Amino acid sequence: MFHTKLDDFPKDFLWGAASAAYQIEGGFDADGKGPTIWDDFAMTAGNTFENTDGKVAIDHYHRYKEDVQWMKKMGLKAYRFSVSWGRILPDGNGKVNEAGLAFYENLIDELLANGIEPLLTLYHWDLPLALQEKYQGWEGRETVAAFKKYCEVLYRRFSGKVRYWITMNEQNVFIPLGYRWGAHPPKVTDLKRMYQANHHVNLANAEAITSFRQLVPEGKIGPSFGYGPTYPLSCNPNDVLAAENGEDFNNRFWLDVYCKGKYPKFMLKQLTNLGLAPTITPEDEALLASVRPDFLGVNYYHGGTVKQNEYEAGSQMATEKDFSKVDPYQMAAKEGEKAPEKAMFQTVENPYLEKTDWGWEIDPVGFRVALRKLASAYDLPIMVTENGLGAYDELQEGLIHDDYRIDYLQNHLLELQKALTDGVEILGYCAWSFTDLLSWLNGYKKRYGFVYVDRDNQSEKALTRLPKDSFYWYQEVIATNGQNLTKGEK
Ligand code: BG6
Repeated sequence: MFHTKLDDFPKDFLWGAASAAYQIEGGFDADGKGPTIWDDFAMTAGNTFENTDGKVAIDHYHRYKEDVQWMKKMGLKAYRFSVSWGRILPDGNGKVNEAGLAFYENLIDELLANGIEPLLTLYHWDLPLALQEKYQGWEGRETVAAFKKYCEVLYRRFSGKVRYWITMNEQNVFIPLGYRWGAHPPKVTDLKRMYQANHHVNLANAEAITSFRQLVPEGKIGPSFGYGPTYPLSCNPNDVLAAENGEDFNNRFWLDVYCKGKYPKFMLKQLTNLGLAPTITPEDEALLASVRPDFLGVNYYHGGTVKQNEYEAGSQMATEKDFSKVDPYQMAAKEGEKAPEKAMFQTVENPYLEKTDWGWEIDPVGFRVALRKLASAYDLPIMVTENGLGAYDELQEGLIHDDYRIDYLQNHLLELQKALTDGVEILGYCAWSFTDLLSWLNGYKKRYGFVYVDRDNQSEKALTRLPKDSFYWYQEVIATNGQNLTKGEK
């Protein structure tokens, strides 16, 4: 779609940046905080990159005032952060820890006093360890009730101060990584258990929204989903069908539940055939159907490309065996319960896209595709809650010249502006991330921030904050309400 002129960004567009508690706060046992599954997971050697952990992280817990001053200097309109559940309810569902609440209240007040809109994420992966031990974490329905209780504590305290609330961060990431691939806590590798845990997170999301309607009637709430479109490798109808399957498997399986209140039929049928479908009661169905978010949070990094599944496509593997007599559902199940998607599609490289230092595809146009697809499928305003480039940053005479990050963000924001011009309603954009922070599995080497933090995997050093070139670039983007993005373009 070609436009001769792009629409201006709305006057109240929320130019923001994001973070998550475990990745920045440190103070892992400060002021009564209870341990979380990430505190525990990082203690075992080999679980994280060079055994990095969030004990100190970038010490935002003690330096939040300085960090907010950097935000103010930048002109940030919104700041997305998450609350660590274990600071509020140290054992997950028992006594409230006033010191934990006070920390977030001070942060919120500091943001508001500096003209920055707080965007509060309720769950960014750091489940209280006690809930893991008592109820097997998200595998236990009791954790749903605990989440509801935790949310209600926050709603009661911050209603009136916080307008935008995010329920779950990337359920489609933390569930597979934690329960299928064993790369995140609780290190489970069992698909059946994964789908049940996932269902409970859906219930928790719905319970959180239900309580929200009563306790924060004037606020807005929605989940943050890690979305990327699924492309077909070619226009061969079999590849197009594979991409359709991929969208259901990777995206609609979560998004339909959030936005339409029910699981997509295709996925539920495949999971039932494989014996992997979760137990869903009529009460669960009614709960899921009774809520709809106010907006959809979108974390965009990249999508994926697929072709027809190997069983039907006559691939190398298929020619080795006689697949003609095989039921692909049973085949997928037999092959180690490892890949129900194998019968649906096969993931391939996209020959058109370059990659980051960490092998993530760079696809700004895919961002526009994503925004368009989501807007037309779900008809909700969109809040971009994450987008950014993870890279090695090198200090050169006390400066970081991250022109690669500026290019990345500039290209993505231009595509966002095109999507706005196409007609997508977008409330704001939070770059990932404001400061450098701990990457869950990549330590402090993979950096995303506008503000450099002087520390590495081995040492906390002085934790000095230092604005990168991208800091000043984004400052200008905000000051001109995005007008400088199209310099030379219009
Ligand atoms: C998102 C998460 O998945 O991606 C963030 O919400 C995370 O918490 C970000 O840090 C980047 O991922 P990574 O693995 O590069 O740190």
